[in-house]
Amino acid sequence: MSQKLDGRLSCAAALVRGGRLADVGTDHAYLPVSLLLDGRIEYAVASDINSGPLARARETVQRNGLADKVDLVLTDGLHGIDAYCPDDIAILGMGGELIASILDAAEWVKHEKYRFILQPMTKRAELREYLITHGFFIENELVAEAEGRIYQTVCASYVGKNTSYSLPELLLGRHNIERGDGLTARYAAQLEATYTAIVRNKSRAGADARAELAALDALRQLNLTER
Ligand SMILES: C[S@@+](CC[C@H](N)C(=O)[O-])C[C@H]1O[C@@H](n2cnc3c(N)ncnc32)[C@H](O)[C@@H]1O
Repeated sequence: MSQKLDGRLSCAAALVRGGRLADVGTDHAYLPVSLLLDGRIEYAVASDINSGPLARARETVQRNGLADKVDLVLTDGLHGIDAYCPDDIAILGMGGELIASILDAAEWVKHEKYRFILQPMTKRAELREYLITHGFFIENELVAEAEGRIYQTVCASYVGKNTSYSLPELLLGRHNIERGDGLTARYAAQLEATYTAIVRNKSRAGADARAELAALDALRQLNLTER
């Protein structure tokens, strides 16, 4: 049996170390089930705030005969997840601000033993800013494309010390810039187009566009597309 992952979830899977995984906001539970079937992890707790997604997760787990290796938990964010003793904690497919608020609500995450694998759908810069100003260190990032969309996956752990990032690093990810891959260049070009449109609309409306102009400036100076 296997549970095939798309490029987005494969990226998250690549960052899992092994051992015990918590998948928060699991929905269909594809990630933990795939990792268990591949023998990459030994156990998973799969949680969701909504009963519909958790029922979908239960269906995937049972179809693959993994009921003895997965606990399914209805809970908000990381509440109560520490009781399942996870090593790695995935929070994927949510907005960056929601991911940050989930981390912020759980005091127990402040321990070096946990690895967080985070995949923000929106507000990626805001999530990076939260992490680096709240004692988390971003160890790595991976980029993937699935169904025409570019996804960034952030791997972080708590070290109790803040890091300083430039604006381009917040927008694109330090590791992604250093790697200088084509997907990051394309993502930078997409961001440039978005900010250009916002600046145009705000300027027409006489609104303050300084933040977007600063982001545009930072992206243009990087010149990633010409590498
Ligand atoms: C778009 S799905 C992502 C599913 C899966 N993680 C993935 O990336 O493919 C988002 C899931 O997060 C759940 N969710 C939203 N807010 C949550 C919270 N505060 N705590 C736990 N789960 C949450 C939703 O019910 C939904 O099932």
